[in-house]
Amino acid sequence: MTGFARLEPKIVPRVSRVSGRLRVPGDKSISHRYAMLAAIADGESHLTGYAPGADCASTLACLDALGAGVTRGDTLTIRGLGLGGLRAPAGPLDAANSGTSMRLLAGLLAAHPFRTIIGGDASLSRRPMRRVIEPLTRMGASIAALDGRPPLTIDGAPLHGITHAPDVPSAQVKSAILLAGLHARGRTMVVEPSPTRDHTERALEAFGVRVIRERNAVAVDGGQRLHAIDAPVPGDLSSAVFWLVLAAGTPGSNLFIDGVGLNPSRAGMLEVLRRAGAEIDVLGESSDAGEPMGTIHIRYGDPRPFEIAPVEVPGLIDEIPALAALAAMRPGGRMTVRGASELRVKESDRISMLAKGFGSLGIDVEEFEDGFTIHGGPPAGGDADAAGDHRLAMAFAVAGSRARGPVHITGADAVAVSYPGFFDELERIARAT
Ligand code: S3P
Repeated sequence: MTGFARLEPKIVPRVSRVSGRLRVPGDKSISHRYAMLAAIADGESHLTGYAPGADCASTLACLDALGAGVTRGDTLTIRGLGLGGLRAPAGPLDAANSGTSMRLLAGLLAAHPFRTIIGGDASLSRRPMRRVIEPLTRMGASIAALDGRPPLTIDGAPLHGITHAPDVPSAQVKSAILLAGLHARGRTMVVEPSPTRDHTERALEAFGVRVIRERNAVAVDGGQRLHAIDAPVPGDLSSAVFWLVLAAGTPGSNLFIDGVGLNPSRAGMLEVLRRAGAEIDVLGESSDAGEPMGTIHIRYGDPRPFEIAPVEVPGLIDEIPALAALAAMRPGGRMTVRGASELRVKESDRISMLAKGFGSLGIDVEEFEDGFTIHGGPPAGGDADAAGDHRLAMAFAVAGSRARGPVHITGADAVAVSYPGFFDELERIARAT
C-alpha cells in the first residue's frame, strides 16, 4: 500500500489499434536531479517539462522545506542556495513513495551541518537504505535508520572523499554518493558492478561540474560550485514504454511518440522490443543539457518470444513490468527474465505482485527468485491488484486493454506517482480505434 486512497477499481477500456502521435510526461529521474542540483547551484534555474507525478512533487516539497525557492508553473523556477547552502528544515521531510527522493537527498544532506529526518509511505518504509547509509557514513556523516529502513535521521558533517564499489548496480546509490562527494574534501569515486543510468553525470556537467568518467568508474572532486541552468526535461521513456508495448502487441498499430528522452543508458528496452518483433525507428534526434531526445516511431511486427538477459537488466529495470505486459497480451506470447532480484525491492515486490496480478487476469506466470517467465495470453480478464505500485498498475492496464473479457484494476490511482494522465491517454487511444 502507498499513501494513495483506495478508490473504486479502474475499468480498463478495450483497445483495438494504436495510431497517431502522442507525448509523455517529463522524465522522472532527470526531474529529480535537475531540481536537486538547481537547489545547490548559484542563481535561478528554469525547467520546462518537469515531471508532473507525485514522486517529483515530493522532491520539490523537500527542497522547499530546505530553503530553496521553488516557484511552480509551466516553467519551474528554483532559486539555488549555493553549494552547501541548504537550510535546516522546520520538521521532518516526507519522500512519500519516492525512493529516488530519499536516497539522493540523503547524499545531499550528509554534508549539511544539521539534523534532517526523512520518511516515506508504507511502501518506501520497507525499502533497503543500507546501500546509501554505509558509504555516506564512511564519508563522515551519521545516519540512523530502523533496521536499515526509513525513516532516516541524518546528522550532516564535514565529509571526505571515498571510493565505493556498490554490491548491486544502482543509479540511486551512485548518485547519492556523487552528490555527497560534491561537498566532500578530495575526490569521491563510484566503481559500478555494471553500468546504470547516467543522468546524474550528465546533469552535473550541465550545471558546470567536471565529472571524471573512466570505464566503469565515475568521480567528482569536492568543492566545485554549480551554475544555474535553463533546460527542458525530455519525455520519460519509462512512461513511453507502456504505449510502445501496446503498439507492439496490437496488430495494425503505427505510433509516434515525440519529445522523448533517448539516453542510451535508459533505452535498452528498444532493443528488446525489436527482438520481440516490433519495428522501431528513432527520428529527429537532438540534445539539450547533455540529454538526447527525439521521436520514436513504432509499428506492429510479427510477435516473437523474447528473453531478457541478466546483463541487460540494469538498463531496463523499470521497463520490465511493461515488457511482461507485452508477452501477456499476445496470443502465445512468452518472455523470460533472470538476474532481476532487485525487482523485489522496488515500490512493491515486483516479481511476486506481478505474477499475482497477471495470474488473476488468467495469465500463467512462473516465478523465480530472480525473475519470471510469462506464458502469454491474451488475458482472459478479471480483477488485478496493482499493490500500490504505479508501474504494475500501468502494466496490468495495457495488457488488460487487449483482454478477452472485462478487466478491473484495484489501486490504479498509484499511476499518479509517475504518470497522472495515464488512464486519460488510454481512454483517448481506446476511443480513437
Ligand atoms: C532510478 C534508479 C533506479 C530505478 C528508479 C529510478 C533513478 O533505481 O529503478 O525507478 O532515478 O536513479 P536503482 O538505482 O535503485 O536501481
